[in-house]
Amino acid sequence: MSVRKVLRMGDARLLRHAEEVTAFDSEELQELLGDMRDTMQALDGVGLAAPQIGINLRVVIFGVESNPRYPDAEEVPHTVLINPILTPLSPSKEDGWEGCLSLPGMRGLVPRFTHLRYQGRDQFGALIDRTVSGFHARVVQHECDHLDGLLYPMRIEDMRNFGFSSELFPDKNIRDE
Ligand code: NI
Repeated sequence: MSVRKVLRMGDARLLRHAEEVTAFDSEELQELLGDMRDTMQALDGVGLAAPQIGINLRVVIFGVESNPRYPDAEEVPHTVLINPILTPLSPSKEDGWEGCLSLPGMRGLVPRFTHLRYQGRDQFGALIDRTVSGFHARVVQHECDHLDGLLYPMRIEDMRNFGFSSELFPDKNIRDE
């Protein structure tokens, strides 16, 4: 397993529609997930989508442990989500600050559905079916957007709420997500 280079915004490979995974529990899939975990961990991210390391498959991983350095970040269980289907459970959205490993050092205010059902499969092909809200729902929407070629700046409604973390939040030590 190895830490892979994360593609940055501007790379056309981030704009593709990713393809469904058809074979589960395979060596290739295990290797991909190992690389994704290593890469996410090395960069201290909360999520990563396969297209971000140049693999055009509908695979995302995410998860956050409670961390005293980031008291505002809610815990999200470590999850492998493949071929996801997202269903908003209400039209209500809320704004929240997001970052992305494909835009290091940047932050933007992005509206996301507050309540969400997501379905998909894990690496063994077992079904995942969860109903979530808040930060967990935000992370899933952000990661799954990568599978449709969408990066969070494309969802910012007021571009005045987009910029470098160090300028937007000079007092905080903020990680790239
Ligand atoms: Ni991202």
